[in-house]
Amino acid sequence: MRTQVGIVGAGPAGLLLSHLLHLAGISSIVIDTRSREAIETTIRAGVLEQGTVDLMVETGLGNRLKREGFNHQGFELRFGGKGHRINVQALTGGRIITVYAQHEVLKDLIHARLAAGADIRFGVSQTSVHGITDEHPLIHFIDECGQPQQIRCDYIAGCDGFFGVCRQAIPEPIREEYFRVYPFGWFGILCNAPASSNELIYARHELGFALISTRSAQVQRMYFQCDPDQRPDAWSDDRIWAELQTRTAGDGFMLKEGPIFQKNVVAMRSFVCETMRHGRLFLAGDAAHIVPPTGAKGLNLAVNDIFILARALASSYATDSTELLDLYPATALRRIWRAQHFSWWMTTLLHRFEDATPFDRKRQLAELELVTHSISAATTLAENYAGTPLG
Ligand code: PHB
Repeated sequence: MRTQVGIVGAGPAGLLLSHLLHLAGISSIVIDTRSREAIETTIRAGVLEQGTVDLMVETGLGNRLKREGFNHQGFELRFGGKGHRINVQALTGGRIITVYAQHEVLKDLIHARLAAGADIRFGVSQTSVHGITDEHPLIHFIDECGQPQQIRCDYIAGCDGFFGVCRQAIPEPIREEYFRVYPFGWFGILCNAPASSNELIYARHELGFALISTRSAQVQRMYFQCDPDQRPDAWSDDRIWAELQTRTAGDGFMLKEGPIFQKNVVAMRSFVCETMRHGRLFLAGDAAHIVPPTGAKGLNLAVNDIFILARALASSYATDSTELLDLYPATALRRIWRAQHFSWWMTTLLHRFEDATPFDRKRQLAELELVTHSISAATTLAENYAGTPLG
C-alpha cells in the first residue's frame, strides 16, 4: 500500500490527523491494534477545552457535540467542608469548557472518516515502523485476516499512545524523556444516577482527593484518590459511596447515589518525550506525553499537537518547505510544558501526600485559599483550565 501519511493509532490524535489531512487534500491510512468497538466504548476523559470544541465545529465534527455536550461556565473547588466556585467564563473573557466523553469524540471522528471513504484498519497486530530516516519509511503489520501488510509513506505519525511502538523506534541514546510518577491513583466509577451538581467538583479532603464529573443526565463519573495498585473489585459499592460522601461533605451537600456499573483505577504520571520527531517519524498525543488527569488536559493536548502537525504537513506539501515541520516539536512543546506544569500543580494542590508534614498541609490549604479568594490567582487557574486558542 502507498499513502502520503501513515498513521499508527486510531485514538483522538490519529483520527483527527487523518481528518485534518483529508480536508487539506492529503491521503492517509490509519491502523490500530484495537477493534472499532473497543475504541468506541472504552471510557476515558471527558472535558473539552473551548479550542478543541471550536476546531471540531469548524471542521464539520460538531453536530452531535453541540446537541449532546454539556457546557460548563465554571467548576467548584471544595475544601474545609465548603465549596468555592471558579467562574471560568467570567475570568477568561468568555471561554467555557464542554463535557463530552472522549469515546463520543472518537465515534464522531470514525463516522466522519469512513463517510469520506477513509482507509482505517482496525484489529491489526505486530505493527513495526522501518526506515524512518529514509525518504520513504514503511509501516509493517498483520491485518485482521492474518495477512502481512506494508504501507509505504512520506511520513509516519506515531499516535499509538504511551505504550505504542513508535516512540520505541527512536534510538534510546537520542530520545530525551522526562518522567514523574505519583504515589497514588484514581479510583473511577460510572453510575446510573442524576447529577449531584451542575458543574464539576474538585474536592480536597484529609482522606484524599475526590472529583465529581458527569457523562449524561442519567450517568455520572466520579473518582477518588486511592492506592496506585488498588484492585477495582476490592471496594464494595457501599464503601465507595461512603468514601465519596465523606470526601465531598459540607454545606449540607449530599451526592445522589445510584447503581455503580463500572470501576477502574487510573495511574497518575507525568511524562514528556521531547524528541517528538526523528527523521520522518512524528509523535503526537500520549505517545509523546502523559499528564495526570487532574487538569483535564490529556485529550486537549493531543488535539493541539495535531492542529500544529496537520498545518505543518500541509505546508510541506504545498510549499516544498519543511520549515513548519522542523518547528513542530518546539511549537508543540510550549503548550505541552504549560499543561505539564498546570496538571502537576492541580495535582499537588488537591491530593493527599502521605509524606506531607503538618506544615505542608497548612501550606496546601493556604494555596487553596489564595486561588479561591484572589482574582489574579483564580484567573491563572481559570485560564489554564479553559486553555488558550490552539497553536
Ligand atoms: C472526567 O469526567 O472523566 C474527568 C473530568 C475532569 C478531569 C478528569 C476527568 O479533570
